[in-house]
Amino acid sequence: MSIEMVSLKYRNTFALPVNVEHLALVDKIELMLQVWQQTQKYQMPLLVLGEGSNVLFLEDFAGTVMLNQFKGIDIREDVNTWHLHISSGENWHDLVCYTLQAGIAGLENLALIPGLVGGAAVQNIGAYGIELQNVCEYVDLLELFTGAINRIPVADCGFGYRESIFKHAFQNGYIILALGLCLSKKWRPMLEYEAFSHLDSATVTPTQIFNFVCAKRKMNLPDPRKIGNAGSFFKNPLVSEKKYESLISQYPRMPHYPQLCGKFKLAAGWLIDQCELKGYRLGGAAVHGQQALVLVNADNATGQEIVALARHVRNTVASKFDVWLEPEVRFIGVMGELNGVEVLS
Ligand code: FAD
Ligand code: EPU
Repeated sequence: MSIEMVSLKYRNTFALPVNVEHLALVDKIELMLQVWQQTQKYQMPLLVLGEGSNVLFLEDFAGTVMLNQFKGIDIREDVNTWHLHISSGENWHDLVCYTLQAGIAGLENLALIPGLVGGAAVQNIGAYGIELQNVCEYVDLLELFTGAINRIPVADCGFGYRESIFKHAFQNGYIILALGLCLSKKWRPMLEYEAFSHLDSATVTPTQIFNFVCAKRKMNLPDPRKIGNAGSFFKNPLVSEKKYESLISQYPRMPHYPQLCGKFKLAAGWLIDQCELKGYRLGGAAVHGQQALVLVNADNATGQEIVALARHVRNTVASKFDVWLEPEVRFIGVMGELNGVEVLS
């Protein structure tokens, strides 16, 4: 373990120049527990960080950031299934590549999502018609105040659209140690997403889907190594049938996705785009010019400038559509996580 005072500029994909009092790189459970005990002793806040691809630092963090470097991949198989046990410090996209190279299919739709395996479970990552919960068997969770490791079966993980129990009851004082994934040997392509309509389910291969997803993502989303961002800044909003009907009568071309619960998911990017906010700039922060759902650090932005821009976007969308967007990105203040909706209200 090494502990030092450092900048987090290269540890968050918004590339915000924030500082942290202590940074601890941990690759063992004993070290995680030691760092936790130190933060308890000095009553300092603790933040677990993967690759920082879903966080917005509003200011310097007055505590310890624990950088997860817990590695390891185990693969077991039975007649019909591959069972993978992956430590939470593994890189998600490297895992997708590793499985495909090993002849294990099923993760290809989730290619090129930045971040580590632990963050993937917190956020229940999703793209191109699948979510982590579709392939997850369990999550192993370290309870820092007792040192106990509990296995949470997928049914108890509270997974939903960019939701999990790890954002709520199991947030403070817990670290995700590993995920269990379960992938069928009888692979079936997941081609429900409309962008796949040109692919033939009878002949398509996992690698073709992987290549298509990677190409599409490279085209649609800005590369954080070139321009700071955290992917979609807001979630796609869910609205009632009544609200959907009123909007679709005014905007017949509005993208919409009926949900099993009877509600309708709308495309936040489309709503923002309709407000003509693409490329809109506020200080060093901007709405991306091609994908309106992505806010970017265009020129040495501060966290507060990104917040001011997000507030402007949210208020503008609400006054045009009467739909209030909720941030997908996690807001981090000086003492820990803040409620993003409250910060923007
Ligand atoms: P971090 O940002 O480091 O952490 C996120 C949160 O999880 C924090 O609150 C942190 O405290 C907590 N956390 C992290 N690791 C642990 C752990 N081991 N135990 C407990 N808590 C932990 N997301 C999607 O779902 N779909 C996409 O298509 C997608 N595309 C993206 C594209 C770009 C260009 C970018 C920059 C982001 C995108 N994202 C997407 C968002 C992001 O990649 C995911 O949310 C990712 O899973 C975050 O992982 P991370 O390691 O960077 O987590
Ligand atoms: N659209 C516009 N203008 C824009 C952006 C989008 O009109 O500026 C329209 C598109 O034409 C399309 C619709 O909005 O009709 C949806 O856009 P897109 O398919 O690009 O997907 P998205 O809703 O913007 C979601 C996820 C992404 C995920 C993609 C692919 C959320 C919040 N975002 O984006 O996840 O990669 O679908 O599945 O659910 C992330 O979570 O960070 C992320 C990037």
